[in-house]
Amino acid sequence: MKIDHIGIATQRLEDGLAIWRDALGLTVQETEEVAEQRVRVAMLPIGDTRVELLEPTTPDSAVGKFLAKRGPGIHHIAVKVQDINASLAELKEKGARLIDETPRIGAGGCLVAFVHPTSTHGVLLELVQHP
Ligand code: CO
Repeated sequence: MKIDHIGIATQRLEDGLAIWRDALGLTVQETEEVAEQRVRVAMLPIGDTRVELLEPTTPDSAVGKFLAKRGPGIHHIAVKVQDINASLAELKEKGARLIDETPRIGAGGCLVAFVHPTSTHGVLLELVQHP
C-alpha cells in the first residue's frame, strides 16, 4: 500500500501553490475541478506520493465547511487500494464509519470513498482506486 496523496485545504489554490510550487519547487501535475465534491484540485507529485491542494468552489462544500471551522490545513490522507469495494467492506465489517458506502468519482477519474474521522482517530481517510 501507498499514500496516494495528502489533501490540504486552502482558501485559494494560489495560496498553497505559493509555498508548495513556488517556494518548495514542486511541479503541478494537473489542476482540475471535481464538480461532485465542489472543489478545485491541484496535484503536485512529491516522491512516491502527491500533495493535493483543495480549494472549495462553494462555501457549503465539505472543504468549504472545513475551512470555515478549522482554517487551512491538512484535510485528509488518501491511501491507494487495489479493490476499493473490498476495502470498504472490510472497514465496515471492522466497525469503521463510512462516509461513502459506495465509491464515487474523484480527481483523475479515480474511484474514491471517505471514512469518517470519528473512526480513524481524527484523520479523514480517503481510499483511492486508480482506473
Ligand atoms: Co483527496
